[in-house]
Amino acid sequence: MIFTVAIDGPAAAGKGTIGRALAAHFGFAHLDTGLLYRAVGTRALDDGRGVIDPAWAAEVARRLDPTDLEGPDLRTALAGQAASKVAALPEVREALLDFQKRFARREGGAVLDGRDIGTVICPEAEAKLFVTASDEARAARRHAELGAGTLESVLADLRARDARDAARDVAPLRAAGDAFLLDTSGMTISEAVAAAIGHVRDRIPSG
Ligand code: DC
Repeated sequence: MIFTVAIDGPAAAGKGTIGRALAAHFGFAHLDTGLLYRAVGTRALDDGRGVIDPAWAAEVARRLDPTDLEGPDLRTALAGQAASKVAALPEVREALLDFQKRFARREGGAVLDGRDIGTVICPEAEAKLFVTASDEARAARRHAELGAGTLESVLADLRARDARDAARDVAPLRAAGDAFLLDTSGMTISEAVAAAIGHVRDRIPSG
């Protein structure tokens, strides 16, 4: 069966948690596409200059092995900012396109979470979710998860990243017209996951 679940939304809204839970529930493969940009961003920074050179970032993206996305440093706020910067470069996005498109249409079902899955990577996705939460709820969750920095610095970091992700020219963060909007601000994880499962289940062909 070919069945794609596209999950988009701003940083720390719960996309990853919901994506993993959906994949486990339905037996689908899961791809956190943010990790692709985080890997390119951190490796592009690692050239020692501390700034991102667009041509070098594109080269890093073309050389990336998308099946090898390990490393605790990918989860840091620094990696998130670097990811958001390289993600605004058309050549970087282009280099990562094919892998994501093929992953989305793989046999057996796939869940992808990111910013442009329902709009660019897989507009034909059978199920689309746009997961949001208030800035404060997202910052509180990310702060607890990181266990570092102040709540204010985490909030400022998320806002800066969202502003850049939504304002860029290529594949900006936005909800697809046919996406199911899921605001998780006042929800527990299990409530949000249950709502997402219900939405996807309704779209799986029976029989
Ligand atoms: O989902 P995340 O926070 O790990 O993503 C890190 C950055 O990567 C995010 O700020 C924007 C970028 N990104 C993107 O532009 N498109 C995607 N599909 C996923 C992430």
